Amino acid sequence: MKYRTIGTDPAHRREVSVLALGAMLFGSLTDEKTSFAVLDRYVEAGGNFIDTSDNYAFWTDGGQGGQSEELLGRWRRSRRVGDEIVVATKLGARPLAPGTGYTDNPEGLSAKVIREAAERSRERLGLEKLDLLYAHIDDHTVPQRETVEGFGELVAEGAVGLLGVSNQAVWRVERARALAAAAGLPGYEVLQYQHSHLRPRFDIPGEFSPDGSLSHAGAELLGYVRAEPALTLVAYTPLLAGAYVREDKPLPPDYDHPGTPARLAVLRDVAGETGATVNQVVLAWQIGGALPIVPLTGVSSVTQLEENLAAVDLELTEDQRARLDAAH
Ligand SMILES: NC(=O)c1ccc[n+]([C@@H]2O[C@H](COP(=O)([O-])OP(=O)(O)OC[C@H]3O[C@@H](n4cnc5c(N)ncnc54)[C@H](OP(=O)(O)O)[C@@H]3O)[C@@H](O)[C@H]2O)c1
Repeated sequence: MKYRTIGTDPAHRREVSVLALGAMLFGSLTDEKTSFAVLDRYVEAGGNFIDTSDNYAFWTDGGQGGQSEELLGRWRRSRRVGDEIVVATKLGARPLAPGTGYTDNPEGLSAKVIREAAERSRERLGLEKLDLLYAHIDDHTVPQRETVEGFGELVAEGAVGLLGVSNQAVWRVERARALAAAAGLPGYEVLQYQHSHLRPRFDIPGEFSPDGSLSHAGAELLGYVRAEPALTLVAYTPLLAGAYVREDKPLPPDYDHPGTPARLAVLRDVAGETGATVNQVVLAWQIGGALPIVPLTGVSSVTQLEENLAAVDLELTEDQRARLDAAH
């Protein structure tokens, strides 16, 4: 395994494996035995960066979520896992009632929610301190200062280490970070956005914005990470849920544009040259690039995990990387 640092404050920054593991479906669509086997193998291979959320996976049973955190809590207790494993969780997008969702009825990012939701996550996970806590979505109904101060209080109290943000417009992230800096409070340092090798269209109305997707890492987000050394990008859905290689998983509609065939062709060329799979080329391209990007993959079997783990040792040549970067 290889590692990289997230966060800047010496009291809270962590060395995390360059491949993160998504536990979104653990305890719901992925049964306990399989989930534990995947977690055990990931840790055995040196992995120590696990991702969950307080709302995972509410859509699988029409509830409010929490199954993933609860499963991780049981796994931590049964394996006597200590603070060597970084468990990142998120709040803000838990539906307030069963049968509702994060777009129509989210808990949001008020100071009260931040305090109470973080407490519930700590209970489910069996953790005194959350190593990394993200704002899962934006909340325009609450002053940003309140959100920033709410997170800052938890860090000051020692309940949270690092802060992160997901699915927010870049200008909102920068505004929150500026508010935090001006108040002497910790700001978001880990940005979690959807990012893969194929580039999506950004003009299709997104879940959180009628103006287009705010969830994908685009030019503005990538340029922000490039300019700010404090930031790390955690790239979610890097394998497009399996769509690169699986007939049963068609590419999402936002990848249906003239730039896609050229990107797919170079991925297949490099896979052929290296003897690796297309999935591994995507992950290796993210891991070894100039930007600090940590791919975050979900898996439903140990076999899939093995394939993804092997990407950590796949070294691309400068020429391969240049062709992967340039294709459009
Ligand atoms: N911040 C956010 O809003 C947000 C949103 C989505 C996800 N996430 C996080 O990101 C994690 C990963 O997201 P994701 O599950 O959407 O993305 P992903 O890693 O691109 O897709 C995971 C799925 O791809 C398939 N797969 C994985 N490895 C494979 C392999 N080697 N060969 C073939 N198929 C493979 C599996 O599908 P099958 O299960 O069908 O076999 C697996 O469940 C989640 O667990 C969650 O922690 C965050």
